Amino acid sequence: MPTLTGKHVLLGVTGGIAAYKSPDLVRRLRAQGAEVRVVLTPSAARFVTPLTFQAVSGHPVRDGLWDASAEASMSHIELARWADLVLVAPATAGFLARLAAGMADDLLTTLCLATGAPIVVAPAMNRLMWGNPATRDNVARLAARGVRLLGPGSGEQACGETGEGRMLEPQEIVAALALPGAEGPLAGRKVVVTAGPTREALDPVRYLTNRSSGKMGYAVAAAAARAGAEVALVSGPVDLPAPPGVRVVPADTAEAMRAAVQAELPGAALFVGAAAVADYRPAHPAAQKIKKKAGAMTLELVRNPDILAEVAASAARPFVVGFAAETNDVEANARLKLEAKKLDLIAANRVGADCGFDREDNALVALWADGRKDLGGGVKAELADRLIGLIVERMRASHQAQDS
Ligand code: PMT
Repeated sequence: MPTLTGKHVLLGVTGGIAAYKSPDLVRRLRAQGAEVRVVLTPSAARFVTPLTFQAVSGHPVRDGLWDASAEASMSHIELARWADLVLVAPATAGFLARLAAGMADDLLTTLCLATGAPIVVAPAMNRLMWGNPATRDNVARLAARGVRLLGPGSGEQACGETGEGRMLEPQEIVAALALPGAEGPLAGRKVVVTAGPTREALDPVRYLTNRSSGKMGYAVAAAAARAGAEVALVSGPVDLPAPPGVRVVPADTAEAMRAAVQAELPGAALFVGAAAVADYRPAHPAAQKIKKKAGAMTLELVRNPDILAEVAASAARPFVVGFAAETNDVEANARLKLEAKKLDLIAANRVGADCGFDREDNALVALWADGRKDLGGGVKAELADRLIGLIVERMRASHQAQDS
């Protein structure tokens, strides 16, 4: 059964040499059952003609905002509404910059702003352009807004250099698009994810907290939803929009987070604890603002519940995944947590002033009882997809072991 049957895919093609692969991409999307309409930027039309795309898509091709007859048959707003998915392949550095800046200076960027459909980009550019801090920044901003990145891959480039920046092959792009939704590996499964910090009140105006922004946990929730799961995201106080298809349950304190997790747990197949839960809270939060006095002040703290360990110890436990935030001896400390909390898998990350917390990128190593996998580095959305892919593999392996 084709996995993109009936899907309306709006394919944007921008002006890079990889545009020569885009007609093949149209053909492969259609072979999977998608209906494809193509929009070219003016520079893309210098690489491949509109006629080629018209022939392979079976529809007229749009390449400007000011084509009166094309606007009369389907206006750009109608086209934006028509799309179930906007795919831009190749996406040049210039296009990513304009998309990140929210510009609407040509038909494609205007469509991207006007659509409610998910946007997926397959970047293609020289390796130094991809590595440039400006591009990294743009990519991170787009990922934080929910734009999905496919690739780029690594290898020999048209400019003669070798490195990261090649557009993924059309078959890889189609395979990645065909995964999410009803056919995804977590389809029909409930997943509970925690994210963000907790706030532990000292008095009505002060609290103890940490530097977690929630970005990693939100990315994990979004990746689980892309893999087809029904996702409940129990979230500490963060400034992030709910990822598409994810239900957010707010919980400010460790105790509120524990109650929300316990309420969401029945029927869950997977629990991922990415929240930075405060280990301690003030023993006696003051009802009124604490006044300053002469001399030092001593604060009495009591232990908070360990939400993750409790889930792992529950009778009908789901597959349980924790995170380990470590400043030193990252893997050794993470393995101790894996064992002490009786987890199925733990994702270890280094945290500090310049890594882990409150950043768009991260690096993870996954550990389980008799294995490990380095998931590498990248923007949190990409890493979350890799982590969910690995979790799915480990869940299957553990079910097979139970069945045999
Ligand atoms: O939110 P970001 O800015 O994107 O940053 C991401 C992150 C660094 C917060 C994230 O990747 C991460 O590492 N999350 C776990 C943070 C943490 O609290 O780690 P820990 O090593 O202290 O705790 C180990 C595990 O136990 C975690 O899964 C944690 O959710 C869980 N825990 C801890 C204490 C507690 N009382 N209850 C828990 O459930």
